[in-house]
Amino acid sequence: MQTILVTGGCGFIGSNFIRMELEKYPELSIINVDKLTYAGNPENLADLKDNPRYRFEKVDICDRIEIERVFGSARIDAVLNFAAESHVDRSILDSGPFITTNIIGTQTLLDAARKFNIPRYLQVSTDEVYGSLGDTGFFTEETPLAPNSPYSASKTSADLLVRAYYHTYHFPVITTRCSNNYGPYQFPEKLIPLFISNLSNNQQVPVYGQGTNIRDWIHVLDHCRGIDAALRKGRVGEVYNFGGRCEMTNIALTKLLLKLLGKPESLIRYVADRPGHDLRYAIDCAKAEKELGWTPEYTFDRGIQETIDWYLSHQDWVGRIRSGEYMKYYAEQYGNRLS
Ligand code: NAD
Ligand code: TYD
Repeated sequence: MQTILVTGGCGFIGSNFIRMELEKYPELSIINVDKLTYAGNPENLADLKDNPRYRFEKVDICDRIEIERVFGSARIDAVLNFAAESHVDRSILDSGPFITTNIIGTQTLLDAARKFNIPRYLQVSTDEVYGSLGDTGFFTEETPLAPNSPYSASKTSADLLVRAYYHTYHFPVITTRCSNNYGPYQFPEKLIPLFISNLSNNQQVPVYGQGTNIRDWIHVLDHCRGIDAALRKGRVGEVYNFGGRCEMTNIALTKLLLKLLGKPESLIRYVADRPGHDLRYAIDCAKAEKELGWTPEYTFDRGIQETIDWYLSHQDWVGRIRSGEYMKYYAEQYGNRLS
């Protein structure tokens, strides 16, 4: 592949992916299409500003005319759609932007990719499309789709459009579904970066309900390697699940963060549970291991320590985010329940 187009590349996973791909493939060029919502931060890729193999286009994926202009501006070998509204709690406060970007945006990209005969389209999706597990079992690619939040419902709708374009038009799509990511450049509204930043400022951390919900954590670079493998080795029309084989209750994770940061348990604040809070996510990634030769490489011990170190050495990055628009959302979401 010579040129790929990535959407949402100024966000958490997209920025890690772009940097990884440019390092791994010295001949590859990348066009990054991003609207720069509150979650899109060009600073995440500031080091690539003068890289001749990198081009940034500030474009909304729902804007058909602009998307077609960008698609027509180069010979593109693959489109990878990372762009999305990505935070469950925001989708509960207002599902509107989720429906627009995650569904209409995906349709717009699929139509443009078909029109320009782009030979690969990869949809970056989530394990949340499968709904919630009880105490046992794992999500496989065959698990029925049963989304529970407006976020996951919008991602599922997008996955179904991708599936339909394959079946109807034989359009060459691949879908990846991954569990909860952590690592550098994650916006500090998600559990791990939010808690690290709060704790490093001796602020309380808001644990929803009793903290008994379980997530399967994967380092963002393991996810990015999985996407790269699916893009290059995946079979058209297929879905590939990625997970970290690292299940943890939220309270166990919170206590680990407290310990690693040397903070007292008195900073834990139990707050009202998230409405419709999925109990447990856990991924069976045997298909990706077998077909793509992929396996997660990071141990959680190593990944979380590196992530803490990254946030502690990038307090300016966090500070610039937390001083702006984000603080309004923080007040709406948590009110005066935190000190
Ligand atoms: P993020 O919120 O950090 O980044 C999203 C990016 O998309 C931002 O740069 C934003 O500006 C851009 N964007 C939003 N709306 C846009 C629009 N209309 N047009 C163009 N750009 C737009 O999200 P993330 O955590 O990096 O997630 C990336 C993708 O991976 C999403 O599709 C998400 O559903 C999926 N995913 C995330 C996780 C996770 O744990 N974070 C896990 C599995 C899958
Ligand atoms: P989050 O990082 O928002 O990811 P997702 O909802 O996509 O899994 O949340 C991870 C888990 O942490 C989830 O069970 C909700 C919980 N959580 C809290 O307890 N407190 C918080 O402030 C946040 C943001 C999440």
